[in-house]
Amino acid sequence: MPQVRIFDTTLRDGEQAPGCSMDLAEKIEIAQALERMKVDVIEAGFAIASQGDFESVQAIARALKTCTVASLSRATPKDIDAAWNAVKEAKSPLIHTFLATSPTHMLYKLKMSEDEVLGTIARMVAYARNLCPQVEFSAEDAMRSEPAFLARAVDTAIRAGAMVINIPDTVGYATPAEMAAMIGYLKQHVNNIDTVTLSVHCHNDLGLAVANSLAAVAAGAGQVECTVNGIGERAGNAALEEFAMAMHTRPDLYPMTCGLDTTRISPVSRLVYSILGVNAPINKAVVGQNAFAHEAGIHQHGVMANRATYEIMTPESIGLMQNKMVLGKHSGRHAVEERLSALGYTLDKEELDKLFTRFKALCDRKKVISDHDLEALALHRLSAEIAKSGYRLERFTVNSGNYVTSNAVVSVLHEGERTEEVALGDGPIDAAFNAVDKLIPAPAHSLEDYAIQTISEGKDAQGEAIVKIRCGDRVVTGRGLSTDVVEASILAYINGMNKL
Ligand code: KIV
Ligand code: ZN
Repeated sequence: MPQVRIFDTTLRDGEQAPGCSMDLAEKIEIAQALERMKVDVIEAGFAIASQGDFESVQAIARALKTCTVASLSRATPKDIDAAWNAVKEAKSPLIHTFLATSPTHMLYKLKMSEDEVLGTIARMVAYARNLCPQVEFSAEDAMRSEPAFLARAVDTAIRAGAMVINIPDTVGYATPAEMAAMIGYLKQHVNNIDTVTLSVHCHNDLGLAVANSLAAVAAGAGQVECTVNGIGERAGNAALEEFAMAMHTRPDLYPMTCGLDTTRISPVSRLVYSILGVNAPINKAVVGQNAFAHEAGIHQHGVMANRATYEIMTPESIGLMQNKMVLGKHSGRHAVEERLSALGYTLDKEELDKLFTRFKALCDRKKVISDHDLEALALHRLSAEIAKSGYRLERFTVNSGNYVTSNAVVSVLHEGERTEEVALGDGPIDAAFNAVDKLIPAPAHSLEDYAIQTISEGKDAQGEAIVKIRCGDRVVTGRGLSTDVVEASILAYINGMNKL
């Protein structure tokens, strides 16, 4: 079966979107999860963008074992050098360089003539090829480019040594018919087009990113660029899970494979949502809470008679397992490990030891541990790690009521030292956060968002708190988990402050 390569850009185009920034440990965790899901290429970042971006691309390049690791770069020697230096230690490094080819971009942004654009493509692709055996060239805003000029740009990039040619719909303007026509046009008009992989990169401004990617594949594209949960600039990118499940569900229309382990889709989607501190829209295709729920009586009746009446794919095919086992304080390490693995989490021994300790502590507070509880422990293990190296909550007391001014006493541990502060506030959370502000030195910041939700049912449910803290134009997400919502909130705030 012909293969369609999956190029995941969650950590680059996805992370570029407001509110989607991630720290190094989170990026590595996502990259490893993507590798386990068997994507072909991971675009780990835009190395020249900042020292932090460079370091995270480099760390991902070092950490991954099988995936190709790419860094984006503009078509300049300085950018390409940075991209190469960041990815060169990867098992399979790739430089992804781009230059716009649409009249609007060339005139207003690049201020370059067509010949200057073609000359730059030739020089910069060759420059990148001298450094790295794998080079991808993207014609930015390709779908608003003149087809004949785009064909010349693609031809130039191929002659200069690019082995992947990407056709982005940068502004999400194209329709499926136009996308198919453009792929067909390039296949017809560019010499040697069959010697390279033709890729597409679709944005979702009109909600057509996945449809356009599928149309491109049906017309002969061999690679699709996408992001987990469709995160990305503006309305986002083509959603990896939607594209993969469309291919999986309709082999009659797409007789090719993308080689993805689709049973990893649900855990990876939840990991990304959890790190970003947001929930999937309940009706989100494939991974929304209602994606497999049948509410209407007539539908339930049909599904009970035969699932195929209303279900075109199974929850199991995306790794959404039905709970078969209840865990509690008598459950051993092995049972916990097995359940985690059924939920899609592969932890090494050290991680499992730590998680098991937290599992036992939770059992002291909660009788029955559901899949959601266990998964929350797994998803929060990174914030628990950050707390170990940064400030860590030792204890707190809050006093609140409708006749008193709320006050909080919070003490934290940092590098073996214990400090304590008292603060007043408008309610217990505000008071506690004010105390944390006095304890943790940080640049000027403000609380942009705060949300709390329960993880499972019952009065003893764990609460998950999410805070978004703004510092200049940077927004960090802090997460906290506890059966006590005030504690979860303080943990989330400290987690965010540690990241600042
Ligand atoms: O949307 C776009 O055009 C891009 C390119 C840089 C590939 O993200
Ligand atoms: Zn993009």
